[in-house]
Amino acid sequence: MSARILLLPGDGIGPEVTKAARLCLEAVGAACGLSLSFEEAPFGGAGIDACGEPLPAETLAKARASDAVFLGAVGGPAWDGGAVRPEAGLLGLRKALGLFANLRPVKVMAGLEDFSPLRAERVRGADLLIVRELTGGLYFGAREEGRERASDTCVYTRDEVSRIASVAFEAARGRSGRVTSVDKANVLATSRLWRAVVEDVAKDYPDVALDHQLVDSCAMALVPHPARFDVILTENLFGDILSDEAAVIAGSIGLLGSASLGAGGPGLFEPIHGSAPDIAGQDKANPAGAIASAALLLRHGLREARAAELIEAALEAELRAGPLTADLGGSSGCAAFAGRVAARIAKDAARAA
Ligand code: NAD
Ligand code: IPM
Ligand code: MN
Repeated sequence: MSARILLLPGDGIGPEVTKAARLCLEAVGAACGLSLSFEEAPFGGAGIDACGEPLPAETLAKARASDAVFLGAVGGPAWDGGAVRPEAGLLGLRKALGLFANLRPVKVMAGLEDFSPLRAERVRGADLLIVRELTGGLYFGAREEGRERASDTCVYTRDEVSRIASVAFEAARGRSGRVTSVDKANVLATSRLWRAVVEDVAKDYPDVALDHQLVDSCAMALVPHPARFDVILTENLFGDILSDEAAVIAGSIGLLGSASLGAGGPGLFEPIHGSAPDIAGQDKANPAGAIASAALLLRHGLREARAAELIEAALEAELRAGPLTADLGGSSGCAAFAGRVAARIAKDAARAA
């Protein structure tokens, strides 16, 4: 098997965590006999600096021609107040590749409950999947921006809701079989449409249990009862907010990876954290979320489940063994942690052979 992977390191800690992910992909490629080739392209703030735009045409063309795209992170104070923001490149890329489904798995690993700021008994067994709609809603509606008045428009169509709901129900089938659809149907028209469409899609999945929860109540319930959730299905902005909240339940925003998938083209795989300008360039970033995203790239992007499992097992083992990065209370650097995961991948693969 051979695959072309486009790396978009981006800004801040993006290049540091991208290097970490690449190291692990190279290790698993060598171990499993996958021929992975890598290319890098400017994106985000780095795209603005190099080409005057956050998503240069050449970067988009390379993304379309690749088998999977890996993104570090974009944004930072250097580009605040500019004509165009680095984040616009990310939204443009998601839209251009049709990546409507964003999967954000959150798992509190057995024995690692103490990473969480919550008491161990509260988070034990938490294993949830946030399925976030990624190309609609407030992010992409008509926008007006004036000095005295501004507006953002939230639009959802039946088709947009229906296709993301199907993704959530399919995912639930391979898990604990429960979907919680999160909306604000007591206020928003888009949420009432959302709820009705999700009910319709649910008819095709009688084996999956569905409930609906208002987003404010869900945000509250996630803290005392994270283990009660299985699949959380929600719209773009709610999913953005709830996934940062869920990440910290597992211990750190630096732990979570994500997969953004569409209708068959290359997927985009990225940690959920941002460019962390406060720790950029200091080798302090936790690369676990990026490494977890590399595993998702193998599983969902390249259909290489065994290689994905090798990465996940090695990452989990290194999180148990330590030393950890500073966000988890340790003193390891980003590169050293990634180096240990990569070495363990090679060792585990050799043992299994
Ligand atoms: P952030 O996620 O960058 O940082 C929030 C906090 O978490 C900071 O204290 C940071 O140091 C810490 N943190 C984040 N990732 C970490 C990691 N891997 N290891 C250890 N600590 C980590 O969020 P922010 O500060 O709100 O945003 C900074 C910039 O990143 C903004 O420009 C924002 O738009 C952008 N952003 C980009 C993405 C993306 O590229 N996908 C995602 C979120 C935010
Ligand atoms: C994320 C980020 C992005 C989002 C920003 C940078 C546009 O926060 O991937 O979670 O809001 O989707
Ligand atoms: Mn976010």
